Amino acid sequence: MKLTLHIWRQKSREDKGGFVTYRLDDSSPHMSFLEMLDVLNQQLIEQGKDPVAFEHDCREGICGACGLVINGYPHGPQEGTTTCQLHMRHFKDGQEITIEPWRSKAFPVIKDLVVDRSAYDRLMQKGGYISVRTGSGADANAIPIPKEKAELAMDAAECIGCGACVAACPNGAAMLFVSAKVSHLGLLPQGQPERDARAIQMVKKMQAEGFGACTNYRECEAVCPKNISINFIARLNRDFLKAALFCGSEKGGKRSK
Ligand code: SF4
Ligand code: FES
Repeated sequence: MKLTLHIWRQKSREDKGGFVTYRLDDSSPHMSFLEMLDVLNQQLIEQGKDPVAFEHDCREGICGACGLVINGYPHGPQEGTTTCQLHMRHFKDGQEITIEPWRSKAFPVIKDLVVDRSAYDRLMQKGGYISVRTGSGADANAIPIPKEKAELAMDAAECIGCGACVAACPNGAAMLFVSAKVSHLGLLPQGQPERDARAIQMVKKMQAEGFGACTNYRECEAVCPKNISINFIARLNRDFLKAALFCGSEKGGKRSK
């Protein structure tokens, strides 16, 4: 495949950055998108040029490290697919492809296509966990959980923290990500003791980190590689309101039945 790539190059956070065009003559439809970028980088290294910086880790759609805006779509045009699982067969020979980093106030560019997503880590520190001793694995069925609740919790737990939802949202909101974390823990018995505090603290942190508010554009849901539903945002809103109104404590009080 012959491709023309328009790639965002930016040396540092302070650099203004801009698009640079590259021709690539030897990619194959069987390559993943990241493998195609590997080929380009090899070419750049052989020419003595700086390779394009991009993030990746598992390359199998589970870690959330990869993420590029491809022809205007976070993670590219293929629905429910991470950048690392996108294959070049979805593009045409001779096609022009524009590749950009996530663009959002809360995710500043570090270099080229790599953005600083540590705001997500700081959100997780405000409640994306349970602080109980879990010990060794519990016996199966020791804590009965209705099947539909367990399945819904697992749907929310599919979020890989990639940040595409933020990149797609015109408001730069992190509601889909936070709602997935709040719901996955809030649906299970282990998540109940900190449920109110989690909702309040994560929402407050979201605002402090510069993420916007949700106004139901639904762009997040459209680009999420794990098909996380915005129904979880409604669940987050309910948890937040209930905690704020009835528990009356910023740290979250005892949950009313
Ligand atoms: S909700 Fe979807 S798009 Fe957002 S961080 Fe999680 S997996 Fe990525
Ligand atoms: S590299 Fe891990 S999800 Fe893409």
